[in-house]
Amino acid sequence: MVKWGIIGCGGIARRRMVPALAECKDSKVVAVMDVDKRAADEVAGQIGARAFYTEAGLLADPEIEAVYIATPVFLHHRQVLQAAAAGKHIMVEKPISISVTEAEAMINACRQAGIYFTEGYMMKYHALNVKAREMVQAGEIGPVVFARAQLGCWYPDMPGAWRQDPKLGGGGALIDMATHCYDLLQYIIGSKIKEVFAFTDTLTFKYPVDDSSTTMLKFENGAQAVVDAFFNVPDSAGQGKLELYGNKGSIQAEGTIGQASTGRMAAYLSDDAQAYDPQQSKDSLDVDKREVAYSPVNMYAAEMDYLSQCIEKRQAPTMSTGEEGLFILKVANAAYESGKTGCKIEVR
Ligand SMILES: NC(=O)c1ccc[n+]([C@@H]2O[C@H](COP(=O)([O-])OP(=O)(O)OC[C@H]3O[C@@H](n4cnc5c(N)ncnc54)[C@H](O)[C@@H]3O)[C@@H](O)[C@H]2O)c1
Repeated sequence: MVKWGIIGCGGIARRRMVPALAECKDSKVVAVMDVDKRAADEVAGQIGARAFYTEAGLLADPEIEAVYIATPVFLHHRQVLQAAAAGKHIMVEKPISISVTEAEAMINACRQAGIYFTEGYMMKYHALNVKAREMVQAGEIGPVVFARAQLGCWYPDMPGAWRQDPKLGGGGALIDMATHCYDLLQYIIGSKIKEVFAFTDTLTFKYPVDDSSTTMLKFENGAQAVVDAFFNVPDSAGQGKLELYGNKGSIQAEGTIGQASTGRMAAYLSDDAQAYDPQQSKDSLDVDKREVAYSPVNMYAAEMDYLSQCIEKRQAPTMSTGEEGLFILKVANAAYESGKTGCKIEVR
């Protein structure tokens, strides 16, 4: 059982990670920290952990082997460097940082300190998304030619909100939500994003970050994709759609892009030797719709346990690595550049 500390007892920690702890098999939170004393005390009381109000205090606790950093994005860099210097393994929430230079420094600091470093794009652990990856990798829908991933919510103007300040959050809907989709599509398709073209706008609200973003992606293996991430659609209107199309069929899902462990996924599969149908009448094709069965997995518990298992086995993480988080940040930067210039951008 790996002993953890939590830095940042705000929205995601309270709403998702703290309830998920009950389902962790290899992780136990023994201390929490927040500059907001009430937040730290409340969460500490809830889970029977020690409360700290400074990073130095929590990081000096010798029982803690790993920390989960769930603070506003502009703090990730400083806090990861502090945790690495204290020799703690780290899982940092997404996005990794607001700048590539900072993210590179974070990765180097962890490497030099000999600690493991993972990022918080947790949708890779959703049981149906794992099934989609398995089906794609087994060739069930043939080579993927097109995918669509959607994440939206209602996020109105809130004075003082860090996500609405580009210096504190690094951007708006694109960096906050589209990056989940970039990461998930790379994982399922099994190929890296090579080129992006994006529209970014603030269509509804007054804040200086994007509330609207559409990204077109091209993967190294040739697959094309569209990611739509909007802060200005009602929560109930965006169903978190995931669609994957290949030469032999498609996988279509709802609700597997989001914070819940539930959702629906169906595969539409055709015969290998599908004949050309000049009528293009869908009912004459040998289409077999198959609901994908699954047992829900708590993604937040799974991502924490994944790092705990790596620590216990002394095996460096191969999933959700800091390097992967850095690459996703580069994709986001390329998309923002494309949004500004109107040009297609290669991700480097
Ligand atoms: N993976 C997901 O599903 C998901 C969902 C939401 C947010 N997030 C990510 O989690 C992180 C936090 O987002 P949030 O929505 O919980 O934000 P939030 O504003 O709700 O909470 C942030 C917390 O950090 C605390 N804080 C501020 N300065 C601090 C400091 N120096 N040390 C310790 N704590 C400090 C605040 O008091 C607050 O309690 C962000 O990186 C965000 O992108 C991930």
